Amino acid sequence: MGHRLVPPLLLSLCLVCFALGTYPEPDQSVSTPEGWVHVGRVTPNDDVILTFALKQQHIGSLEQLVGRVSDPGSSQYGQFLSLEELGAIVQPSRETLSTVRMWLEKHGIHECETIQTRDFLSCRTQAQTAEQLLPGSQFHRYMKDAQTVVRSTSPYKIPNELSPHIDFVGGLHRFPTPRQILSHKRDIQGQARAGFHLGVTPSILRQRYNLSDSDIGSHPNNSQACAQFLEQYFHPADLSEFMVLFGRGFQHHSEVDQVVGPQGGGRAGLEASLDVEYIMSTGANISTWVFSNPGRHESQEPFLEWMILLSNMSALPWVHTISYGDDEDSLSIAFMQRINVEFMKAASRGLTILFASGDDGAGCRHVDKGINTFRPSFPASSPYVTTVGGTSFKNPFQVTREVSDYISGGGFSNVFPMPDYQAPAVSRYLQSTAKLPPQSYYNRSGRAYPDVAALSDNYWVVTNRVPIPWVSGTSASTPVFGGVLFLINDRRLHKGLSPLGFLNPALYRLQLNGSQALYDVTEGCHLSCIDDLVLGQGFCATPSWDPVTGWGTPNFPELLRALLL
Ligand SMILES: *[C@@H]1O[C@H](CO)[C@@H](O)[C@H](O)[C@H]1NC(C)=O
Ligand SMILES: *[C@@H]1O[C@H](CO)[C@@H](O)[C@H](O)[C@H]1NC(C)=O
Ligand SMILES: *[C@@H]1O[C@H](CO)[C@@H](O)[C@H](O)[C@H]1NC(C)=O
Ligand SMILES: *[C@@H]1O[C@H](CO)[C@@H](O)[C@H](O)[C@H]1NC(C)=O
Ligand SMILES: *[C@@H]1O[C@H](CO)[C@@H](O)[C@H](O)[C@H]1NC(C)=O
Ligand SMILES: *[C@@H]1O[C@H](CO)[C@@H](O)[C@H](O)[C@H]1NC(C)=O
Repeated sequence: MGHRLVPPLLLSLCLVCFALGTYPEPDQSVSTPEGWVHVGRVTPNDDVILTFALKQQHIGSLEQLVGRVSDPGSSQYGQFLSLEELGAIVQPSRETLSTVRMWLEKHGIHECETIQTRDFLSCRTQAQTAEQLLPGSQFHRYMKDAQTVVRSTSPYKIPNELSPHIDFVGGLHRFPTPRQILSHKRDIQGQARAGFHLGVTPSILRQRYNLSDSDIGSHPNNSQACAQFLEQYFHPADLSEFMVLFGRGFQHHSEVDQVVGPQGGGRAGLEASLDVEYIMSTGANISTWVFSNPGRHESQEPFLEWMILLSNMSALPWVHTISYGDDEDSLSIAFMQRINVEFMKAASRGLTILFASGDDGAGCRHVDKGINTFRPSFPASSPYVTTVGGTSFKNPFQVTREVSDYISGGGFSNVFPMPDYQAPAVSRYLQSTAKLPPQSYYNRSGRAYPDVAALSDNYWVVTNRVPIPWVSGTSASTPVFGGVLFLINDRRLHKGLSPLGFLNPALYRLQLNGSQALYDVTEGCHLSCIDDLVLGQGFCATPSWDPVTGWGTPNFPELLRALLL
């Protein structure tokens, strides 16, 4: 074979890229989101915390294992791993650990902490050192409301020899994204009459979802959790007042047993109050944990810190509900794929993770002049979580059947392909639905969501000692559906069965087999782009699965029966 002459220019370019490689799968969404105000450059010796997502091993075997332990048809169903066993599979190679260590030490970075699965490294250093380590990065301070963060809005590079060992570096680009919870008033036509209710409360939910007063938790080892990333807190006094006002008839706890992370003072947040009050009244009499604002250092990312915390705690509640979400297109592929692996890790341990599907319907992204597409949200679009959409009562003041809530997030991922467990249900939807939005608006081959739904409209919440009506959003439906699963886990533990773990394979299997475990929602559409082609409408609910309400809302006795096997 003959030699090829390498032009000198190319050669020298290559030398440059060896010395300072560009990151192959860049984690480089570097714009400043709306609402954040630039305060100024940090001083060189300001502290920053960098989080290194180290390359894991055996992801393929992990994925297969998750498939088996989550599939009721497999002989390995429910045989979950301990955190230690999981760590033995995924932990980075010796080479990865030592290469990264040496690189950091060469730059004088010694203050690093690892986690039990050894696949994340969190290091404290000074801004000037971080900027030398990751050329291109430049740390600035940004502010929104009372919160300040330190971020770099220019892309960073890492040396080529490091890129096989690092998925991404956290603490540079992503800004915290609060999901706004809505409180809006409806027109009340006429006054309250007999048989009418004035909003959703625990007893209305228990009535609609067929929970009797004795459907409460009773297993001492069962526990449930919700996570908050909004720099806001619940107040124990609000929770006890809520339970006095709305907790009659069924036994429940009025106190959170464990707060992981800071529990600050100040005003309570509506979202935080909502989560805690509804998780504890559907999942009644179950020990409750709140993960509260992890990642308080201004250079940390709260959602990422929560994910990392899960891999550093061997004893955790079995079910977690979270209402964080971001537009898929605002996040890097490298970040989303790695977080998806973190969800697989949780699934291998038997954890059930529920995410709110979002409050923007199908969403809308302006691609170009006059060209729009729907806008999927992550982690709602991850194939390894259960995503919860929203409904409202057909008659808002009666416990009637449910219709789609027009805000209910739903659609098709542009990043994650459709998983096998949902392919038959989604193809049926795509083939049998007469009027679908134009195909250019969504990706028919992507993971479709939500999986399930619950009421998301017109809730009562007590916050700062005041009962507030009209609170709406999938942040409300998510803890409610979670509560139903906490109760099912409780019964499973009593029977000596494993917890449910990652629910979707079992759920889709059940539903494809004609189960009545969920109330099918067949009416109403959600919102999307306001343009000439779709006129503000996204997808519509149909019989069976649909991308607005998934399979529907829980009928507790039937769902329990179906999942108690
Ligand atoms: C993980 O937990 C250990 C032991 O509790 C702790 O020392 C370490 O700092 C934790 N790691 C991180 C990244 O927080
Ligand atoms: C659940 O409640 C509905 C309405 O209250 C009732 O029609 C239905 O029979 C109940 N289903 C079960 C399984 O209890
Ligand atoms: C509430 O849960 C505890 C275990 O955490 C259990 O001992 C108790 O019996 C439960 N209460 C009822 C009324 O079932
Ligand atoms: C609860 O968990 C502890 C520790 O894992 C175990 O020893 C105990 O038997 C469990 N209790 C029940 C009722 O299963
Ligand atoms: C559609 O989704 C697939 C993953 O299922 C992805 O590979 C592809 O890039 C997506 N197409 C667009 C146009 O985003
Ligand atoms: C489907 O339902 C039938 C009858 O209820 C049952 O015998 C069968 O095991 C179910 N199949 C699956 C895959 O769950």
